[in-house]
Amino acid sequence: MAEYDAIVLGAGAAGLMCAAIAGQRGRRVLLIDHADRAGKKILISGGGRCNFTNLHTAPDRYLSQNPHFAKSALRRYTAQDFLDLVERHRIAWHEKTLGQLFCDGSARQIVDMLLDECDAGQVTLHTGRQIGEVEHADGRYRVGQDTAPALVIATGGPSIPKMGATGFAYDLARRFGLKVVEPRPALVPLTLPADQALFRDLAGVAAPVRARAGKTGFDEAALFTHRGLSGPAILQVSSYWRHGEDIAIDFLPHAATGWLAAAKRSHPRTTLRKLLSDTLPGRLAETLAEQLALPGELANLADRKLAEAEQRLAAWPFLPNGTEGYAKAEVTVGGISTADLSSQTMEARKVPGLYAIGEAVDVTGWLGGYNFQWAWASGWAAAQAL
Ligand code: FDA
Repeated sequence: MAEYDAIVLGAGAAGLMCAAIAGQRGRRVLLIDHADRAGKKILISGGGRCNFTNLHTAPDRYLSQNPHFAKSALRRYTAQDFLDLVERHRIAWHEKTLGQLFCDGSARQIVDMLLDECDAGQVTLHTGRQIGEVEHADGRYRVGQDTAPALVIATGGPSIPKMGATGFAYDLARRFGLKVVEPRPALVPLTLPADQALFRDLAGVAAPVRARAGKTGFDEAALFTHRGLSGPAILQVSSYWRHGEDIAIDFLPHAATGWLAAAKRSHPRTTLRKLLSDTLPGRLAETLAEQLALPGELANLADRKLAEAEQRLAAWPFLPNGTEGYAKAEVTVGGISTADLSSQTMEARKVPGLYAIGEAVDVTGWLGGYNFQWAWASGWAAAQAL
């Protein structure tokens, strides 16, 4: 029987950060993971270069039933704090786009950095260990032969099960009476039904668009796939999309209102297809022009028809029939309800000593380093209270 001050379940992004900081604060910490090594998702993140944070981190870039919940942790442990840590470890980095920070070298450097930080905190790390039953009696949590007055759930969400992701966090939280907001795959490609098969012929074609689900829109690239739609703009809206709703794509997000009528006056002999192919990939321009069914020179087309075409191009509706599921989802929307947790410490309000951090909690960031920043910030916040 070994006694600790805290047992952290899950040696992913949030668990490693939490264990390291708590250890460095003098706590005796045990960190357990069933995988053969720590931080496996970090290793595959950002195409192997780990998009470890985002300079534009702000609470409104996170989805949660309580949009205020993430504020405290994100304010107390910022993107700059993590960047300072990265620089202390002399890891070279660059901003790719939109505030997204990546390693110049490899994601492995981030895992090694976190493991070094755990060493500095004298954290005991058990990888390749099944958690089994978790018991709670007399103010102590017991996992196998190990006990502690504090238990941190950091086992993430169920996205990418083949990497060892599970819904364990939700089962454990429910056992302790915490509510779980219905989880669903997010940052995930959307699939299209057969009647939109025309667009599947475009598989491989990408274009910068504005994609919208409800009121939320993202200006990034969309990619047509054999199964439907992907690319950053689509992954972003997938987190907001609900079954039965359509998404709208603006294929010319920078075109001014009335641009088609203006083109008719300035270039009356041109065609819609030619105009579209000036800004869009050829195959996409062709498909859209065919769908709009306005052949011939612009001079012969009524302004009203052109205005209708313009509107359609600005909000082309797609009705997805689903997503590619957890197998392809970068994250999970939903999770352990924030209503049951303290936003300062991540401790369960009604279960003293029980904490939940990272993706296991109902806080989900946009694509672009926001999810790791939540993992670092929530892990850090819990560590202050352990
Ligand atoms: P995380 O999943 O990292 O860790 C959970 C740990 O718990 C794992 O080590 C797992 O093995 C362990 N575990 C699970 N169930 C268990 C059980 N039953 N028993 C024992 N251990 C268990 N985000 C970002 O900000 N920038 C990026 O570049 C990317 N890129 C990216 C690419 C891909 C392909 C994916 C799938 C995801 C991303 N993400 C991302 C998202 C990011 O990886 C994710 O949000 C964080 O890893 C969440 O950190 P957690 O520590 O909460 O979970």
